[in-house]
Amino acid sequence: MLTLNKILGVPCRLAKWQIHGFLKSFTFHPEKQLLHKLVLGIETSCDDTAAAVVDETGNILGEAIHSQTKVHLKTGGIIPSVAQQLHRENIEKIVKETLSASGITPNELSAIATTVKPGLALSLGVGLEYSTQLVNQYKKPFIPIHHMEAHALTIRITNKIDFPFLVLLVSGGHCLLAIVQGVSDFLLLGKSLDIAPGDMLDKVARRLSLIKHPAYSTMSGGKAIEHLAKQGNRLHFDFRHPLHFCRNCDFSFSGLQTAVDRMITQKEKEEGIEKGEILSCAADIAAAVQHTVASHIAKRTHRAILFCQQKGVLTPSNAVLVVSGGVASNLYIRKTLEIVTKATNCILLCPPLKLCTDNGIMIA
Ligand code: KG4
Ligand code: ZN
Repeated sequence: MLTLNKILGVPCRLAKWQIHGFLKSFTFHPEKQLLHKLVLGIETSCDDTAAAVVDETGNILGEAIHSQTKVHLKTGGIIPSVAQQLHRENIEKIVKETLSASGITPNELSAIATTVKPGLALSLGVGLEYSTQLVNQYKKPFIPIHHMEAHALTIRITNKIDFPFLVLLVSGGHCLLAIVQGVSDFLLLGKSLDIAPGDMLDKVARRLSLIKHPAYSTMSGGKAIEHLAKQGNRLHFDFRHPLHFCRNCDFSFSGLQTAVDRMITQKEKEEGIEKGEILSCAADIAAAVQHTVASHIAKRTHRAILFCQQKGVLTPSNAVLVVSGGVASNLYIRKTLEIVTKATNCILLCPPLKLCTDNGIMIA
């Protein structure tokens, strides 16, 4: 029913036979109920072409992913038309690989689920176009998926967790705190007023020219900052914490990014190096930026937890904070959040690292 709400809730035209097919596939047959619902998930919202087949018990039958990170690192950011072209070149291969790893044919699928929003329009279009083709060819029901809802619900693959719970989603495109009341029932408590933390870390990594550093040249910006920060001393730089006086759960990262940018320019002058060369204090800057991001995220999350506890949404029996999205794979940020959850008697749950970043499993 909830999935149906979701189908009807998105501005996506579905033919009557698709809706009927979907309803029929969910008619209750106790003897057939288990084992026969296989969903193919397709994800192309940003720079990963991913697919997976999952059954209704959460078993992953097979998956495949093609990451565009290396290409976009070279161009200094995602160029939508380049991402679109790479999705086009890879989607068929990835879906075929997924089906073959799952040991099934398209005919055995119960439905095809695809990210329809939010994301880069050109990238989303490739997944949607390819799924439409499959849906028409094999007469399968279509399930449109909201990318952020998928991130928020991924934890239910690995942990038995009841609604409601609090979720923090931190990625390259988003930053939000929400109460998850049901499969497609979310109450937004706060969001980024400007850019997302992953986007900010990507920009700082580019400004620090980490692509020229052999150890970090193939990593996403956020991951490169995390690794470089291990060798730095965060106390050597002091960046102002965003939204210090705003008593709500919103986030902001663009002011911090500007401050870091200015600091890098100043240090380049002091060290007498050209823009594009690596600063001797790059690790210290990475450590300070990571700390400021972690502590900003932790403070807003702390406020959200206190609010939920005060309103009785999070009770001692369901005091769970789920953290997901690409930036949630940052162990320093996880540790900082652990301090908050310990202090508020909450349980911190994060999906395994590979399920935090974009993947087909969360869509399926
Ligand atoms: O969720 P995701 O794979 O794609 C989006 O939906 O955005 O997140 C990608 C973002 C990138 O900005 C990347 O730099 C960031 O997640 N990221 C990290 C780490 N690994 C990936 N940020 C901080 N620490 C990491 N270890
Ligand atoms: Zn994502």
